Amino acid sequence: MTIEEIRTKYLAFFESKGHKIISSASLVPDQDPTTLFTGSGMQPMIRYLLGQPHPMGKRIADSQKCFRADDIDEVGDNRHTTFFEMLGNWSLGDYFKEEQLPWIFEFLTNELKLDPKKVYVTVFAGDEKNRIPKDTQSAGIWKKLFAEKGIDAKDIEIGTEENGAKTGMQGGRIFYYGAKKNWWSRAGAPENMPAGEPGGPDSEMFYEFADIEHNKEFGEHCHPNCDCGRFLEIANSVFMEYRKKEDGGFEKLSQQNVDFGGGLERMAAAVNDSADVFTADTLALIIADMEKLSGNSYAEFQKEFRVVADHLRGAVFMIGDAVTPSNTERGYFTRRLLRRAVRYADAIGLPAGKLAQLAKRVIMSYGQAYPELARNADFIQSAIGQEEERFRKTLEKGLGELKKIATANARGAFGFSGDALFDLYQTYGFPMELSIEIVANLYKEQGNTAGIPEDVRKEFAKAFTAQMKKHQELSRTAAAGRFKGGLADASVETTRLHTAHHLLLAALRSVLGDHVHQRGSNITAERLRIDFAHSQKVTPEELQKIEALVKEKIAENLDMVRLELPLKEAMVMGAEMEFGVKYGDMVSVYVAKDKQGNIFSKEFCGGPHAKGTGELGAFKILKEEAVASGVRRIRAVLGDNK
Ligand code: ALA
Repeated sequence: MTIEEIRTKYLAFFESKGHKIISSASLVPDQDPTTLFTGSGMQPMIRYLLGQPHPMGKRIADSQKCFRADDIDEVGDNRHTTFFEMLGNWSLGDYFKEEQLPWIFEFLTNELKLDPKKVYVTVFAGDEKNRIPKDTQSAGIWKKLFAEKGIDAKDIEIGTEENGAKTGMQGGRIFYYGAKKNWWSRAGAPENMPAGEPGGPDSEMFYEFADIEHNKEFGEHCHPNCDCGRFLEIANSVFMEYRKKEDGGFEKLSQQNVDFGGGLERMAAAVNDSADVFTADTLALIIADMEKLSGNSYAEFQKEFRVVADHLRGAVFMIGDAVTPSNTERGYFTRRLLRRAVRYADAIGLPAGKLAQLAKRVIMSYGQAYPELARNADFIQSAIGQEEERFRKTLEKGLGELKKIATANARGAFGFSGDALFDLYQTYGFPMELSIEIVANLYKEQGNTAGIPEDVRKEFAKAFTAQMKKHQELSRTAAAGRFKGGLADASVETTRLHTAHHLLLAALRSVLGDHVHQRGSNITAERLRIDFAHSQKVTPEELQKIEALVKEKIAENLDMVRLELPLKEAMVMGAEMEFGVKYGDMVSVYVAKDKQGNIFSKEFCGGPHAKGTGELGAFKILKEEAVASGVRRIRAVLGDNK
């Protein structure tokens, strides 16, 4: 079964159980400052789990884009990926265990046709300290469900992973584990949760790859939560009915919720009975392209192929959510993904400059389910192509620098510090771990086979992180005090510049083409700044045309009119959306139109604006420059401001 088939089946199944299907939220969390990226399906649902009514009702299902930055270094084995799709279903104070467990079991065994004999489940053993009872109810439901399939499911107390390694399966089918394994919250186990955080006991389903022998490196005996690879967790039903209190104890939420999450690729692995998630069609297609381009085989370079396929896919989705490669916070991860992809691509002999072409494959596989990819295909590909090109130039320059650094030959004489790493990162865009890796390799080539000792690496990382933090705080201070929509305030000057900003965007699109979209903006009382997608420098002739067009529209004194309309209508109308922003069902759109009703500009926007463009007066473009891969910036002023 393909990823697309499983996703479609899942959503149709839960729709048939009364769920409304919602589209995936962005990888950039909205109103959730706890993580840089959306890392689970429930994150965009938090406020509804806490009791706010969801506009679509009490039963919701989706396939959510997720990115787990922490897993970057784990990628390379048969199951870790940075980006993944989490299939989710939620009961927001509606159904509970008695519906959820039978439904998901039905889905996996009847719809996906998994052999129930290969399915094992875990349930919560209870937490005496926090007075959360053992989940005997779920165990009872599972017993019945397995019995219906002719399986006598024995329940076993395992408690902890350590104990599981000692006792093994003991002929069990249902396993009780404690809070480390069968409790879920964004912060993990109960003691790690901050006050106010919701969480609850969960029940997980595992698929057994019978042809994988237990590996004793992971413990004497195998059990569902053993990491040897024989069992793969494919589904998790969280019974989210608790919240941590200020005093450290737990209280019941106002409603009993279900938060279900299942890794789509892991389900595919189970369906296809292949423990390697990279054999799922979407990833396998990228790998097949890479085999053709490089002349090397996946079988021979598994880790390298997996890293490139995973990182490239991750970068495509990131850029699709407006996280373009850069040196700040989120953008840094996109940069890191692409730069690592370049290095691993080199290792398998992929010709240089092919990442953008491979990205097309990702967009083709996912463009239907995630239309933002298809819509922004050109932008995504060109951002990737440019980042590869830029990194190759950087690599050449930086390598010379690093070689100098690595000529030292004793600890402390690395000539090298966390600060130097940060310089390399700022000047050449070398991610920290890349610099360390290169130095370690050069160092080894010089005969120092021990490489860089672990404690020295740790020192480097610590100093680097401290520098990075300082840097980020500075940029955050700069970003604070900014209004929504990039406006510094709502003064008359700022408002006029805001209107000029709309005219300018429309003029840019008219002169440079429809690929131009806004990527950021900042407006003060003195000047406007617009960042927009365009891959080349805007020529002086083009700038002149753009400026002239804006002036013409000011002279025509267009009316600025606010419309309030359903999102779909605004999209049909072709109003400019801000990239990466998620809009509600009803949106506000500003149009600039002449007395005959001819529309020059239409943008999703909350205002405020001048009443007519005649109020703007003189307009002048001051500067045009590059800000990031595929993104240009223009500064402009009005009247006598400057
Ligand atoms: N929120 C649960 C998870 O991410 C379903 O595993």
